Amino acid sequence: MTTPPAPEVPNAAPPPSSPASSGPSPQEKEATSRQIGRLQDFAAGFFATWTLDLGVRHGLFECLSRHPEGLSAEFLARELDLDRLYVTVWCNAAYSAELVEFKEGRFFLAEGLKAPLLEPGSPVYFAGTVRFLGALREAWTFLDQHVADGERSWWDQFSKDLPASQADSSRTFYTRLLRKGFAQVPGLIERLNGPTPLTLVELACGRGDGLVRLAKAFPNLKVHGVEGDERSVEVAKAAVAAAGLGDRVTISHGILGKDPVPAADIVLMNIALHEVQDKEEVVRQVVRALRPKGAFLISEFPFPEWGEIEKLRTPAGKVMAGVQYVEAILDDQLLPSAQFMNFLRRNGMREVSSSELAPIHVLVWGTK
Ligand SMILES: C[S@@+](CC[C@H](N)C(=O)[O-])C[C@H]1O[C@@H](n2cnc3c(N)ncnc32)[C@H](O)[C@@H]1O
Repeated sequence: MTTPPAPEVPNAAPPPSSPASSGPSPQEKEATSRQIGRLQDFAAGFFATWTLDLGVRHGLFECLSRHPEGLSAEFLARELDLDRLYVTVWCNAAYSAELVEFKEGRFFLAEGLKAPLLEPGSPVYFAGTVRFLGALREAWTFLDQHVADGERSWWDQFSKDLPASQADSSRTFYTRLLRKGFAQVPGLIERLNGPTPLTLVELACGRGDGLVRLAKAFPNLKVHGVEGDERSVEVAKAAVAAAGLGDRVTISHGILGKDPVPAADIVLMNIALHEVQDKEEVVRQVVRALRPKGAFLISEFPFPEWGEIEKLRTPAGKVMAGVQYVEAILDDQLLPSAQFMNFLRRNGMREVSSSELAPIHVLVWGTK
């Protein structure tokens, strides 16, 4: 007599496992080994970032680029008057991170790194970002101390390295604006180069790099910078004086949202509107301060919209997700481009538009 087949039980629970067969499933094991690989990549990235920072700040990359014939670690240390052991460790770490090459006992700067690491005027300049990442160590310490109590801080509370390296990282944003951003705004370049002297006001101008470059790029333009951090105002004034531009470039201390915005034909904010507490009030003030046909140019990080969280997994999204830590310390957050466009439209600006200049850089504008 045969026994009937056991009835099928839909969605039956697996039989209880014996102690011998317990432990992670093959899927779990595979996922863990994938994650271990990623975690090791993060550790390697951490060391690569510090290697970049040390190499930029102590001139190691610069020295290697001056020696296309290559240098041994010992010669590199001697040339820069640095410790031999530290430089040997740096050379090996830089080799492991593929930042330098090695042949017959000599190290060479890896191909493709000259512009990102050594050319501040290049649109792909990256050493400023490297310096900023290094300078962020004090911000991490602050965050670690205040992650529970939620205390915030501001630029003037940190050492001068932080705003200085931030300005260096912003350099590439100004380069992109000047090389391709302004050309996206209909008629802007023609007006800036026209015979009628215009006034451009840069709000939250930081340490004045943008003011100097704008004045140099457009010889007919009058430029005025407003900045809320006293130390940055002093640095910006010195930069303008050193560039011999004192007759066309002026700077004042002012708190946006509180102090009035000076009259202008063009107002520019570079990586700054997201930081202001009352953004809508500042936009209102800018619109009032603009002369007829005036333009408001908002150069920003384009943080993904709510509902687009998957965009945080793109390379640009990963960088912006990290920048949000700094913004949180400063008591603000990066915003999606649409938000800046809404500010302009809500306050009566016309021809509101935007252009992506790089995956981490958008220019939003409107005219009065
Ligand atoms: C990220 S930095 C950008 C500075 C400069 N535009 C650049 O790109 O290098 C932001 C700047 O906004 C200034 N800032 C923030 N809130 C401000 C406010 N309410 N009034 C004036 N300046 C402000 C900060 O002091 C800082 O210099």
